Amino acid sequence: MERPPFDLQRHYEARLTQVGQEVCGFDQNFSAQVQLAPIRFGDYQANGALAYGRFCQIHPRKIAQRLVDALRSEEEFSPALCDLQVAGGGFVNISLSSLALARWLAAYGDAHALRTGANELDGRIHVVDFSSPNSAKQMHVGHLRSLVLGDAICRILEFFGAKVIRDNHIGDWGTQFGILLRQIRLEGTDFEQLAPGSGLEALEELYRRGVQAVEESEEAAREAREELAALQSGDAPRLELWKRINAISYAAFQKIYDLCSVHFDLVLGESFYRDSVGRVFEELEKYGIAEKNGGALAVFFRNHGQFYEQPFLIRKADGASNYASTDLAAVLYRSEQLGADEIFYVVDARQQDHFQQLFLTVERWFEKTGYRLPGLHHISFGTVCGEDGKAIRTRSGEPIRLQQLFSEAIARARTIVEEKNPELDRESRDRIARAVGIGAVKYGDLSQNRSNNYLFSWDRMLAFNGNTAPYLQYALARLHAIARRAASENLSDGVDAMPPIQEGEERSLARKLLHFPTVLHQVLADLRPHLLCTYLYELAGEFSTFYAACRVIDGDRATTRRRLLLCDRTKTILGLGLELLGLEALDQM
Ligand code: ARG
Repeated sequence: MERPPFDLQRHYEARLTQVGQEVCGFDQNFSAQVQLAPIRFGDYQANGALAYGRFCQIHPRKIAQRLVDALRSEEEFSPALCDLQVAGGGFVNISLSSLALARWLAAYGDAHALRTGANELDGRIHVVDFSSPNSAKQMHVGHLRSLVLGDAICRILEFFGAKVIRDNHIGDWGTQFGILLRQIRLEGTDFEQLAPGSGLEALEELYRRGVQAVEESEEAAREAREELAALQSGDAPRLELWKRINAISYAAFQKIYDLCSVHFDLVLGESFYRDSVGRVFEELEKYGIAEKNGGALAVFFRNHGQFYEQPFLIRKADGASNYASTDLAAVLYRSEQLGADEIFYVVDARQQDHFQQLFLTVERWFEKTGYRLPGLHHISFGTVCGEDGKAIRTRSGEPIRLQQLFSEAIARARTIVEEKNPELDRESRDRIARAVGIGAVKYGDLSQNRSNNYLFSWDRMLAFNGNTAPYLQYALARLHAIARRAASENLSDGVDAMPPIQEGEERSLARKLLHFPTVLHQVLADLRPHLLCTYLYELAGEFSTFYAACRVIDGDRATTRRRLLLCDRTKTILGLGLELLGLEALDQM
């Protein structure tokens, strides 16, 4: 038996469009427009006949009927597998038979089979630039988004077969070092006392005082710029200090990454490109893309609707490189050395202009030189705002630190875990509390549409009920418990073929499971993990309904087998879904 298509919505879209154009004689203007249908209309619905009928002045129902007649002679649309109905003003409703549902569930029985079905990015190299905090400052709640979104996006790209390079482009070569070095010189800070792991708070204090000084005095600001230029030109004592500061910062970042199980393949940072910015300046000037203005170098977009009065500064007047210089060099490195096909920047929306100008500049530059141009994408996200409705930042007041947020979440999770399951040994309790606490925080962010701003709230980040990670983790743990019981009673023997699904709750659950690939494709199309969150939450709801209505274990043998299989597939998809979001899947809670 041939394996059914992984994503049926996609498959039907392609098939119906093709049959319409090739068999029914519709022209290129016809597309089937297949969507997931509300349950009362079937499983999938094609809307394409409506637009096409209007377009060629034929009643859409006639178009729909012609399509259905042509489809009926195809094996996969035979009554044994699906029912086709023309409905309303010209919709085609497609309802899968219980056999077709069972076939799909049999073919995509485990995570491996699902991954195989989704292998469309086919090893293409995707560089994902995410987290990328600035060193010398602690990560606060404003840094959560890039971290958790970036990690989920990497996992989703990997699921679709991409080779992903996770690149943490740490800001370790910028203005903050001029300010810090100046302040250190002024205060005579004793660096021997700042051990990695402990010195970050002292550094932050130093930085705060430094920022205040440069904001208040032009003289101080100039000194800070000079410090930075001296560092960038390789002054040894400054480089030594710079290294120490970075060691302290990296150690603190790594603690957070370990805590939430995020890893990187590359941590190069802006400073890695310090020797290659020269080539960037040279080439951009040579090809007339950048223009000199004193020591400064800038790219102009004179005919651009938005940037005609806003040049892209790629080197400062004192010769120091800036954020743009290292970003340009990084694109070159990623293209030439990493072989990137696509580059994603998971960075907040306030940097939109920077990325647009960066991409425009790279396009001109690579066109002139003939370098291989990767796809460049800014995966932007809204701001996490404080209670005052303003962006949470290090400079203003005391933002909540990520470390603090995670600790609080884990502590609250531990209380709940202890209540729910007092018998657990200490080690399991700690492990579960950590997974639940971290999961709640990550999900609090991931479940939001990334384009929107949101108000930071402890309640959202630490919620355990409703559309939250703990709720999903708990549903999954319950599915594991069912599987354990089935195994201990030898109920799951010989259940590799999937018996036809019955109407009612079984069918609703099965149909929801089949939607998983379609949802993943929606997530991939626009890299919006919140769509997966919504889906998993709905799936868990379908499962609850099913579980409340259907006795899984005590029925007759055939019923038990069928229902256990549905539990098993729900377990697979819920588990995989959590994994793709970067949430720990627990087998008990
Ligand atoms: N360090 C920057 C910041 O904190 C983000 C860097 C993003 N990546 C990049 N290649 N520009 O705002």
